[in-house]
Amino acid sequence: MAANRTFSIIKPDATRRNLTGAVTKMLEEAGLRVVASKRIQMSREQAEEFYGVHRERPFFNDLVTFMISGPVVVQVLEGENAVQRNRDIMGATNPANAEPGTIRKELAESIEANSVHGSDSDENAATEIAFFFKPEEIVG
Ligand code: CMP
Repeated sequence: MAANRTFSIIKPDATRRNLTGAVTKMLEEAGLRVVASKRIQMSREQAEEFYGVHRERPFFNDLVTFMISGPVVVQVLEGENAVQRNRDIMGATNPANAEPGTIRKELAESIEANSVHGSDSDENAATEIAFFFKPEEIVG
């Protein structure tokens, strides 16, 4: 399959613990290439819009508050089968259920402070990439 792209966020629990490099190393070792990256402080409005699909979930407000509790690193990752490859290296949403060797098993603190977000489909990857990046900011 040709190389394609996915979207990743290194979450505030990871940036707070100075794990940006550790997470990125695991992504790169899994065969993904960082073709765009920036460290940002998300606004509440931005986080609410980004996670809009979860608006009715009981954890929505806590999720948004957590995602704006510190800086995040938003990234575009490129590689063969990038969406699934990234999901595999991230591991299960809840680190307690994640496989050994995955980012969430090795680094995450809880289901909320789970260190990374990754797109769940090619369609959502395109939407999420466009939410944070202009085309000229992505250099493959
Ligand atoms: P993420 O991939 O960023 O997408 C939504 C996030 O909601 C998810 O990762 C989790 O970190 C967070 N979350 C918090 N509580 C829950 C929960 N009970 N079930 C699923 N996701 C949760």
